[in-house]
Amino acid sequence: MFEADDFIPSKYTNSIDKGNFSWSAPSNIALVKYWGKKENQIPANPSVSFTLNNCKTITALAFTKKQNDGNFSFDLLFEGKPKEDFKPKIQKFLERVEVYLPFLKDYHFTIDTQNTFPHSSGIASSASGMAALAINFMSLEKALNPEMTEDYFISKASFLARLGSGSACRSVKGQVVVWGNQASIKGSTDLYGVEYPYEIHPVFKNFQDTILLVDKGEKQVSSTVGHDLMHNHPFAERRFAQAHENLDKLIPVFKNGDLDEFIKIVESEALTLHAMMMTSQPYFILMKPNTLQIINAIWKFRNDTKIPVCFTLDAGANVHVLYPNSVKEKVLQFIQAELVGYCQNGQYLCDEIGNGALLG
Ligand code: DP6
Repeated sequence: MFEADDFIPSKYTNSIDKGNFSWSAPSNIALVKYWGKKENQIPANPSVSFTLNNCKTITALAFTKKQNDGNFSFDLLFEGKPKEDFKPKIQKFLERVEVYLPFLKDYHFTIDTQNTFPHSSGIASSASGMAALAINFMSLEKALNPEMTEDYFISKASFLARLGSGSACRSVKGQVVVWGNQASIKGSTDLYGVEYPYEIHPVFKNFQDTILLVDKGEKQVSSTVGHDLMHNHPFAERRFAQAHENLDKLIPVFKNGDLDEFIKIVESEALTLHAMMMTSQPYFILMKPNTLQIINAIWKFRNDTKIPVCFTLDAGANVHVLYPNSVKEKVLQFIQAELVGYCQNGQYLCDEIGNGALLG
């Protein structure tokens, strides 16, 4: 396991004038939710997620050596066009990670980024976006320091991604990633995401996530504001303890493939996340009427057919429908027949569990 200080490099063996890399990083969907954080992006509780496969950010990083004048220098392109409004977030990220990547002011960067999912889909791109950028910087660091081990490369990429956006640290690896210190999970740490280290039942292989786009509008609550709501929240301590309990309960579930128990934990986590928002000060309801319609329809379908399909939610109105690959056809039929009508413009995205970031 690495400590934060292990990620501060002492010196680089190579020098490199210019070059470019390109990485894609996927989104991820949390089963046990991260909601609440301490200083320096340290999570208030551990979380676990499925890495996705299709919803991803592709980021190309070009770099040329410049005089170190004490400033960061970068151009930011989104889908090939300059995008000024993304720059402050990147600037802040560079400031946060500079101590770990001391070469940042020696280069001018062109960051060219695009998502495979529609821009205004309400799918957060911060996880995939920050992960893709962090890994690109690690490729440059590896060029400067080729001795670096694969474990260091991956762990530090996740560590840097976390400093950009907490959930981004779960987007570097697949297929199941734990972030946050959990006594029962070997190697788990608050500093970066790690691949879930124990047995996973084949029922989770190619597990499906169909994302129903209920509301594609701007986020009503930014994640910064959202996490802040857990400070002085009347139920915070109990909730953080519950996340540890749920993560422990998932260990045998992952092993034996008990989908009834999986469903109970995952749906409860989703509703608890929203319950936290509904009981904070100020309070928010981020579900829409159609979110509830979908949840009720899933419950009825599951009850009628005994097909193990469930939902989870992020901090918004969209619904992630989770189910094993073996029932894909039946669930997609159900979605098309009964749920598409609740989606904005009938839109939904089909995704599944994936393997993490890819070079090129
Ligand atoms: C509800 O990772 O977006 O999706 O660290 O402030 O960038 P920041 O927050 P972010 O929070 C995501 C919270 C969540 C649950 C989860 O993914 O675990």
